[in-house]
Order: sequence, then C-alpha cells, then structure tokens
Amino acid sequence: MLSYVNNKFCFLDKAKISVNDRGYQFGDAVYEVILYRNGQFLDLEGHLKRLRESMSRIDFELTFSDSAIKTIIKRLVTENNLKYGSIYIQVSRGEYSRDHSYFNMPLNPILVILTKRIKENFKVIIPGIKVFTTLDNRWSNPDIKTTQLLPNVLAKTKGMKNGFGEAIFLDENSYVTEGSSSNFWILNKNDILNTRSLDGKILAGITRDSILRCAKDKKIKVVEKKISLDDIQTCKEAFITSASSFVTPVVQVDEMIINNGFVGEFSNLLRKTYLELND
Ligand code: PDD
Repeated sequence: MLSYVNNKFCFLDKAKISVNDRGYQFGDAVYEVILYRNGQFLDLEGHLKRLRESMSRIDFELTFSDSAIKTIIKRLVTENNLKYGSIYIQVSRGEYSRDHSYFNMPLNPILVILTKRIKENFKVIIPGIKVFTTLDNRWSNPDIKTTQLLPNVLAKTKGMKNGFGEAIFLDENSYVTEGSSSNFWILNKNDILNTRSLDGKILAGITRDSILRCAKDKKIKVVEKKISLDDIQTCKEAFITSASSFVTPVVQVDEMIINNGFVGEFSNLLRKTYLELND
C-alpha cells in the first residue's frame, strides 16, 4: 500500500517514523478516520475541520492546507486501487528529543495518511450488536480526538473477549457518555431519539452530526440529553454511530435485551438514509 508517512509518499513497508516522534512517546497527536466508497469520501469536510480543531485544542497547527490533504488522499486511493476503504489521518506535534514540555520545540508537525481496504460493500441491513457498559476512565477532554486511546483500547478489547461489539462508557453518575469508538443513541419509549449533548464529555462525532440531520430530514424528533441505564431499560431501540460503523444497531446492553433482540426500524432507516446521503 502506498502511504503518506513523515510528510512524504512511501510504501508502507518502507515507512519510517522517528522513535522521538511525540505521538509515539506521549500520544501527542490527533487523528481522523474517514470512510471511502466508490469515489466518495464520507463527511470529508467535517473530518478535516475537526482535525484542525483538535490540533488547535492541543496548541499546534499544520501548514498543509485542506486541499493539499485532499490531493494526497485522492492519490492514495487511486494508486492503491481502493473501491471501499478507510483513510486514517494522524498529525503528531513532531519529533523532538524527549521532553514533556514542547516549549522550546521548533514546530514541525508530522502528517501520516494510511489507507485500508474494506472488502465488502457497505450493507444497508446489518445485524445488531451486543454492548457492555463500563466506567468512563478517560481524561477530562475526551472531546479532543487525540491518539491517547488506552482506556478505549482496553475497554473495547475486554468487550470483544466477552462477545460484545462495543464498550459503552458511563460517567460517575452512571449516565452514558459514549462508546469506546462511537457515539451512543437510543429511541426512547415516546419515539424520541436521545443522544448525549456536546457537553465536553464526548467526542463531537461527525457521523453523529450527519445523523442529527438525517433525523431532521425524516421528521424524527431528537432530544440531546444524558441517557441513564433506566432509559436504556425502557427504550425501543439503541444504536451507535461512527465513521467506520455508520449506524450500527444495538440489541443488547449488558443484560438488557432491546426490542426483543431485533434490529429496530428507526435504526435501519437512519443507516439507510446516511448511506444514501453519501451515495
Ligand atoms: N472513532 N467517540 C469516540 C470515542 C470515537 O473514537 C469515535 C470515532 C466517535 C465517532 O466519531 P465519528 O462519527 O466522527 O467517527 C465517537 C473512530 C472511528 C476511530 O477511532 O476509529
């Protein structure tokens, strides 16, 4: 696979990053994941905008323009002959002899762009997944999309080992924050969609934003609010959203079976609408 590593095009097996890269040593890096389908980058503008916001939140910026980044990713999908795939963009603060402070460091951020092939077409109808809840033990700025993902990685892996497709974080008052790599939603007993508001405790998902627009389009009412375990117990449907999973129905949360274990019609409709939007 052709990739873009350390600010230049190279093949993945020849790609090199310094051991002094601050992303490697400190998780001092931000990233985005963008899906690609048949010539179309899903929600590209939103992802590039958030990438810049993440950099600004941790106090650096990238000299590459958005159009330069677009030129690179277009070349990668073309040369890698990608039909369906994902694009991973990471920008670290740069390379510097190890020091917690970057105060004296010359600003030279390192851009990495990798593509990954996805074999199957993006299906409209998919089975629901089971998820489990676990305490949100991340730092207090999960709204910044940094590569510091150890709590997410551990939670997701624990779930996978036990047959769960996603880990759902709960805050100290047992309200859902979000998934380890997704935003969480329910359709409540009154047919209103609920997802946590952007209160700084979740990532402002780009797919979440698109789904809010899809819901509006389909005249589905949405209230952004904290979701409790009781809300889940009585909900009609649940699903997660992310760039890599679009809308993925959830049919079980811990021991709670949702909609008798069947994928609900709103979840299917929103997934279909999202995929059509990006057709
Ligand atoms: N993760 N919340 C977290 C913690 C995430 O890591 C993600 C995405 C989301 C959904 O955001 P978006 O809709 O913009 O993808 C919410 C990506 C897919 C990842 O880490 O691979």
